[in-house]
Amino acid sequence: MLILGIESSCDETGAAIIKDGRYLLSNVVASQAEIHDRYGGVVPEVASRQQLTTIIPVLETALEQAGCGWENIDAVAATYGPGLAGSLLVGLTVGKAVAMAHNLPFLGVNHLEAHIYANWLRGKIAAASKETEDSDWEYQEGDPIFPSMCLVISGAHSELVLVRGHGQYELLGRTRDDAAGEAFDKVARILGLSYPGGPAIQKAAQHAQEELEQQGKSATQALNAYRLPRSWLRGTYDFSFSGLKTAVLHLAEGVAGEQNVQHTRSSGNAGKQVNQYTRMGVQAVQRGGANVELLAASFQEAVVDVLAVKTRLAAQEYHVKQVVLAGGVAANVNLRARLERELRPLNIRLKYPAIEFCTDNAAMIASAAFFHLLRGEQHGLDLDVEPGLSLPFTKK
Ligand code: KG4
Ligand code: ZN
Repeated sequence: MLILGIESSCDETGAAIIKDGRYLLSNVVASQAEIHDRYGGVVPEVASRQQLTTIIPVLETALEQAGCGWENIDAVAATYGPGLAGSLLVGLTVGKAVAMAHNLPFLGVNHLEAHIYANWLRGKIAAASKETEDSDWEYQEGDPIFPSMCLVISGAHSELVLVRGHGQYELLGRTRDDAAGEAFDKVARILGLSYPGGPAIQKAAQHAQEELEQQGKSATQALNAYRLPRSWLRGTYDFSFSGLKTAVLHLAEGVAGEQNVQHTRSSGNAGKQVNQYTRMGVQAVQRGGANVELLAASFQEAVVDVLAVKTRLAAQEYHVKQVVLAGGVAANVNLRARLERELRPLNIRLKYPAIEFCTDNAAMIASAAFFHLLRGEQHGLDLDVEPGLSLPFTKK
């Protein structure tokens, strides 16, 4: 079964053609990150306008790259929430329009659920094999194993979810303030790094670690160069990242204790680093005398620490076979490595999507749609956008 997926919930425009919910024929993503970088974050009006100009070329490219005509497509799926209303409206409307024009079944997809389904995606297949074979569609080797503990970490969500089966989600914990991705983006802004903040902070942190190694020191020193707070919220699986963000802000503004400043000075390269950065963060960082890269590394470590420990505790309590990562922050290499280390002694496997499937894309939309269509579900063309949609929890 070939599904055309469409994604337009925020600042990425995506179209993809996926076979049997897993195999990639094409996956086209047009990112607006460069445009929003100027403003240090997504500007909703700009985002929806860009969606409008990009969606048709992206859709046509996806069909072309898959070597498909409309006659090969079996169903159309588009994100209907959560996300920015204006952006969502573009993809959803185009999805419904092409489904109607070509007389195809239509399905609206929950973007958060799609992030989870990114774990079902494999690599690209040759166009020659796009005919559907007789196979078990429900489970194929390499699929995630139920029950699994899923950490959903995107720009606006941080949730620990027990997934008992397809469509069976139990909410164990969620963020009480900023989402993990949001914290990465805001801290990057404070430090004068680029948008989106996650990759920029990861890169700055990596650089700090490499520099230490070159100086013959242990790279792990970078991770605790600044002592930053962790909000454990013990006895719950909830998260909180805003206190951490504020601690970084205070350091960057120079209201940190003298101890931290001295530590930075002794690292020797604070002045050199700061020159590379632009925008408001520069002044702040210079004033505080803090080293941007070491601060980025320490912040990332604090986020990874909390996410990894709480996820491991939940995985142990619920006796799952697998932990699954979903959402843009799942692309973080330090988080992946740390969770591997936490879970290995417990014999719990860790699964995460390939980097290109972690951040927003349409392949995951088509994958989620496949498993809904298998259950005979589909939507009418009166489906509207739902900007505040959450995962369809069976138990909270
Ligand atoms: O899932 P996603 O692409 O969009 C939403 O649905 O929100 O997630 C975007 C978030 C951004 O906050 C971005 O900074 C973060 O994912 N992100 C990362 C990394 N790559 C993207 N965070 C940490 N490390 C990364 N490598
Ligand atoms: Zn997303």
